[in-house]
Amino acid sequence: MASAKESICLLLFAFLQYTVKGQDPIPKDWPLQFHAVLFINRSGSLQKTDLWYDWPNGRNFNIIQHQLGDLKYDLEWDNGTSFYYTLQPFNQTCKLIRFDVGILRPNWLHGANYLGQRYVDNFLCNVWEKLHFIRYYEHVLTQTPVQWIFSSGMIAHVMTFEVGAVLEDEKWQAPVYCFGETQAETQNKTSMPLLDSEASALARFHGMFMRDTPHPAYAFPK
Ligand SMILES: *[C@@H]1O[C@H](CO)[C@@H](O)[C@H](O)[C@H]1NC(C)=O
Ligand SMILES: *[C@@H]1O[C@H](CO)[C@@H](O)[C@H](O)[C@H]1NC(C)=O
Ligand SMILES: *[C@@H]1O[C@H](CO)[C@@H](O)[C@H](O)[C@H]1NC(C)=O
Ligand SMILES: *[C@@H]1O[C@H](CO)[C@@H](O)[C@H](O)[C@H]1NC(C)=O
Repeated sequence: MASAKESICLLLFAFLQYTVKGQDPIPKDWPLQFHAVLFINRSGSLQKTDLWYDWPNGRNFNIIQHQLGDLKYDLEWDNGTSFYYTLQPFNQTCKLIRFDVGILRPNWLHGANYLGQRYVDNFLCNVWEKLHFIRYYEHVLTQTPVQWIFSSGMIAHVMTFEVGAVLEDEKWQAPVYCFGETQAETQNKTSMPLLDSEASALARFHGMFMRDTPHPAYAFPK
């Protein structure tokens, strides 16, 4: 059976990689472009998120379906501007927020602290923690992310991960009501003076700023 042999080879390879170098494994950089479907549990409220990461074009998109609820768009540009909006048939709302930081770099996991291996969602994973803010689980055999948990307790389960997938340009256009005069009122420059730029970029990616900065008392699940 080829697949069993392949698995054994991969396992051996992973094992040798680990033992020969005698060093902690390093998380794989994010592909420059990918599409992932995430199931997210945020304190018991569930959402399905389409994540479109597009580094060469300096943009990142979270399209968030709340369970039996609204479909929300969180469009982030590397120049610091984020648009949060809803489209018909939901109310047409838009909030524009300016950050001092861009989107996550493909190598944002560099310098993460290795915590060992664990089974999550039935996959054997290498685990890292970055800045006490996120715990990241990567499949040992394929180096694909399986799950990440923010220190807020928000858990993202990676359901699909399509390397190289790109969302068409037209879809990255915020609606016209994001650019109206009234929008000026909600514009605000969001800086997180307590966090360095790396942590700020992570907080921006997390999609909760200010009200949900990392809580030191939160304990990651064992
Ligand atoms: C979501 O997380 C909460 C804890 O915050 C937990 O009680 C609940 O069982 C989780 N729901 C699912 C579907 O995983
Ligand atoms: C950032 O880029 C987006 C998309 O091109 C644009 O709508 C927005 O106004 C830009 N923000 C700044 C601060 O230049
Ligand atoms: C949408 O707009 C209507 C009418 O203004 C309002 O009654 C309703 O609460 C709004 N719904 C949401 C989810 O904001
Ligand atoms: C903008 O930021 C300031 C300072 O953080 C805050 O007091 C103000 O309420 C914010 N305005 C809006 C519209 O969010």
